[in-house]
Amino acid sequence: MAIEIFLDVLFAVTLFLLLWNVNILVFNRGIPNIRTAPAIRKKIISLLKEHEAARADRTQPYIIYDLGSGNGLFARQIAREMPQATVIGVEVSGPSYDWSMMMKKQMKIGNLDYKHADVFTHDIRDASAVVLFFYQLDKLGKKLHEELKPGTLITSNKFRLGDGWQPAQSLKVWTLYPFQKRLFVYYKTSLQYLAFAGALL
Ligand SMILES: C[S@@+](CC[C@H](N)C(=O)[O-])C[C@H]1O[C@@H](n2cnc3c(N)ncnc32)[C@H](O)[C@@H]1O
Repeated sequence: MAIEIFLDVLFAVTLFLLLWNVNILVFNRGIPNIRTAPAIRKKIISLLKEHEAARADRTQPYIIYDLGSGNGLFARQIAREMPQATVIGVEVSGPSYDWSMMMKKQMKIGNLDYKHADVFTHDIRDASAVVLFFYQLDKLGKKLHEELKPGTLITSNKFRLGDGWQPAQSLKVWTLYPFQKRLFVYYKTSLQYLAFAGALL
């Protein structure tokens, strides 16, 4: 009897894990839809607020991208805490995008938008800041070199950006989440911008 219950539970757990992995592969391009830990979200929002307050030209809109926005929770939190900014979540998974749009409408957040798109092809040249909790950071690092303006802030939860990016800060953040303890902070410098422009000539 006990062994039968054990086998039933084992079967249910295996089936759940199988469906979970199929879901990640089919809808999430192999990157699981896990949210950034609350303590890391809080730290990122304080960095965004400082960056927004310190910019020279405050007549221009301050645009924040969450690349791979999942169910859109973090983008919603940023938009509500920074009503002066425009927040755009980019998400490839249809169900996650639909959920995000439904929540945006329900919560009536005017400075928030979601795009159902691939981060590698979506144009982010108007970004003032980019937040990431994403893998494939060599490929994404290249895109950020190509598209971002000097002075753009980038935060990356857990993973280092590739393609030559050097973090300005590598912060330890205490969280209850077992695998989220590190936040990397980058700024696109004018030197990087010129180096990339030179490489194109
Ligand atoms: C770890 S979640 C991050 C969620 C949210 N940004 C946060 O920090 O709480 C990463 C998300 O990236 C999405 N994703 C993976 N590859 C993508 C791509 N090429 N374009 C857009 N979204 C992608 C996945 O579907 C997943 O929802």
